[in-house]
Amino acid sequence: MTAKGAFDFDRPIDRRETASAKWEKYRGRDVIPMWVADMDFATAPVVIDELERRVRHGVYGYTVPPADLTPAIAATLERDAGWRIDPEWVVLLPGLVVGLNVVCRAFAAEGDEILTAIPIYPPFLSAPEHANRVCLRVPLVEEGGRWRWDLERLERAVTPKTRLLLLCSPHNPTGRVWSREELSALAELCLRRRLLIVSDEIHGGLVLDPGSRHWPLASLDPSIAEQTVTLMSASKTFNFPALGCAFAIASNPELRRRLRRTMAGIVHHVGAMGMFATLAAYRDGRAWQLALLDYLRANRDLVETTLGAVPGLRVFHTEATYLAWIDARAIPDAVRRFEEAGVGLYDGALFGAPGYLRLNFACPRALLKEALARIAGAASRSSRGG
Ligand SMILES: Cc1ncc(COP(=O)(O)O)c(C=O)c1O
Repeated sequence: MTAKGAFDFDRPIDRRETASAKWEKYRGRDVIPMWVADMDFATAPVVIDELERRVRHGVYGYTVPPADLTPAIAATLERDAGWRIDPEWVVLLPGLVVGLNVVCRAFAAEGDEILTAIPIYPPFLSAPEHANRVCLRVPLVEEGGRWRWDLERLERAVTPKTRLLLLCSPHNPTGRVWSREELSALAELCLRRRLLIVSDEIHGGLVLDPGSRHWPLASLDPSIAEQTVTLMSASKTFNFPALGCAFAIASNPELRRRLRRTMAGIVHHVGAMGMFATLAAYRDGRAWQLALLDYLRANRDLVETTLGAVPGLRVFHTEATYLAWIDARAIPDAVRRFEEAGVGLYDGALFGAPGYLRLNFACPRALLKEALARIAGAASRSSRGG
């Protein structure tokens, strides 16, 4: 143990010259990248050890899923979310975005409608379109700084051609952890209107508020589980999205059959490194995850207090994820201004919300402080008409 505890999230790790998508975007420029959702921390030491062991073995032949993998997924869901699944319900995927694209093809025909609420993680909007399905976007509502569903508006949007609701829970980008009551009401609507639900729960391991709890939608009731496909991955919590391992969970065998049929011969099997990393993370990574959540919580608090005092910005409370959602509509061309000031943020327009910004705060605190100072400086120059 060091003074910082067992894990040191303050240690800066140089990601330049590693072909990092996040850092390459601003190659050669003094811009702190805070756009795409990966963390500037090394993954859990237990994951690195497992990967090193596998790398040193030296033979990288065709690999079946390790026998312990789906039982480890099931044990983690029961421990962390109180959700009992049968390991048979798991369908492995090489990425969660792959899963979003597969479900659009598996559960809706060409020309059918797929419903989602905006703002939303951009692949929710592109996946239906890639498959020639129609994407129906219903806005979430903001009230007193908190985002919620407008169920009446959602229901009015449903037509006889609507097949599927794409749900993000916890929610990227607003950071909401939907309560059991909110999820039950949403599921009630979907069951009544015979919509399948695809619930992307990739951020379920990143709940920051001690008072909030992630409820897997399908865990609420067997009748909801019958109509739900849950998409998950360890890659967001444990920061190995480049290793390509995610999974769907469906208790309904017909939904699993349709998923597998749509994937057959097209979606590649999951790589060995992703499966071993996932196994190690779920089996042995809990202590690292809890330390990470403490660190992210303090970063989140710093973002909210610092940017909350900046004129022209409204920052929403991030209950889960390491992504802050910011209303910057009072600052014209905010993304460009902040980029010129040396911080690269994600443009809310990509999420269906022009004028908003998403800031990734999963980095060492010293870097975060520098980025927040740059943002505050640029915002105050803009409020003075600069
Ligand atoms: C809601 C959500 N789904 C999926 C993904 C990406 O998943 P993958 O890298 O497994 O495709 C992200 C990444 O940020 C996300 O926020």
